[in-house]
Amino acid sequence: MTDWILRGGDVIDGSGRPRWRADVAIAGDRIAAVGTLGRVAGAREVDVSGKIVAPGFIDVHTHDDRALFATPEMSAKASQGVTTVVTGNCGISLAPLLLDETPPPPLDLIGDSADYRYGRFAGYLDALDAAPPAVNAACLVGHSTLRVGAMSALDRPARDAELAQMGKRLQEALDAGAIGMSSGLAYAPAAGAPAAEIEALARLLQPVGALYTTHMRNEGAAVLDSLEESFAAGRAAGVPVVISHHKTIGRDNFGRTSETLPVIAAAIARQEVGLDAYPYIASSTVLSAAQAERALKVLVTWSKSAPEQAGRELSTIAADWGVSEREAVDRLQPAGGVYWTMDEADVQRVLRFEHTMIGSDGLPHDSHPHPRLWGAFPRVLGHYSRELGLFPLEEAVRRMTGLSAARFGLTGRGTLSPGAYADVTVFDPAAITDRATFEAPMTPAAGIEHVFVNGRPVWTGSKPTGERSGRALRRQQMQAEAR
Ligand code: ZN
Ligand code: CU
Repeated sequence: MTDWILRGGDVIDGSGRPRWRADVAIAGDRIAAVGTLGRVAGAREVDVSGKIVAPGFIDVHTHDDRALFATPEMSAKASQGVTTVVTGNCGISLAPLLLDETPPPPLDLIGDSADYRYGRFAGYLDALDAAPPAVNAACLVGHSTLRVGAMSALDRPARDAELAQMGKRLQEALDAGAIGMSSGLAYAPAAGAPAAEIEALARLLQPVGALYTTHMRNEGAAVLDSLEESFAAGRAAGVPVVISHHKTIGRDNFGRTSETLPVIAAAIARQEVGLDAYPYIASSTVLSAAQAERALKVLVTWSKSAPEQAGRELSTIAADWGVSEREAVDRLQPAGGVYWTMDEADVQRVLRFEHTMIGSDGLPHDSHPHPRLWGAFPRVLGHYSRELGLFPLEEAVRRMTGLSAARFGLTGRGTLSPGAYADVTVFDPAAITDRATFEAPMTPAAGIEHVFVNGRPVWTGSKPTGERSGRALRRQQMQAEAR
């Protein structure tokens, strides 16, 4: 029985093919029909003429592990048309880990010690089932999370017994439904991990068809070495690799995506490789002196010791306090920052690359977050596609739907066709635009009109509906549905 008919819109189906005029019928949690449809008794009609009807967007790079519980309406994402998030990126996942001391950075980006209370990944996924959010979640296991849970010191390679323990927890997570493992080799908790440690764990991913995503060891001078390390891990283990938030950082490396993208293209020709990016020239993570030194400008996003400084520039804070920036960084700890470290030409080159998926990398618990948290997807559609003409709207949508679902194995998502899950985003192609800025980062985008998740409306007319129809997407079920 048809529940909804979205009438008279232009369908962009996520494959990259040109839009066409069609009505879309939703029955239960599925797309029932796409075409010229008559009226159906009992079905609710929505006039979407002049609007684009697209598959719900997939945010392949998130840190929403705890946000799914803390803010179940998920407005930061639903307001952008996002219907599925991939959690656990950059080596940090909330599970499986029990903590009674302060989490080491960057684990503190997603929670305090009390939040790390899922000793088993199955428990985390069950908690999502019990308290579902408004969007779907496909979950990665963080390599740093595994390290913190198994190792007595983090500044060295894992010993055999520790590696065995990490492997056991990873296996439990995969058995529970995790879609893969992420690493954050640039960060202190994982920087001591040699390639062999990653390869040993990645080998567990291969038999179950899971994937490996990586925030590489280096995105600066040694970026090419890091790309090769990432590809080698994928080859050794026989698993797909996703290069997270691809960029080249620091003034000395401006322009170097013209070197990295051909290297990535060559890797794609011989093994399974993907990449994601966010559409901004500034990055964001925990506040560190090393990162601040190579940035052109730093904005403080949160600080436990000086919360009132969130939203201010590091140089201004240092001047106010009459100290060096390095000293200010120390006094603000623990803290987070936005770093201006990229060149606009690189950002555009990576976005234009045909294999690039869109991921926000938003940090949902920051008090003054990077605007990518609320703006990444509309910014690609509005600024980069419509205004700058980087690619047609159909191609922009493909990079946030069909391409992403295929890479991450999200069966029945990322496509708008009969039989697919009814994750649907309706937006105004003339009005879609990001409004979140570095000054006012939590401003919802304009132009997103209706968002359906599993056939239920979660966002309508610039506000959440209160529906929480998202699901924990378990790998095994998605694999079974693909057969
Ligand atoms: Zn990262
Ligand atoms: Cu990240």
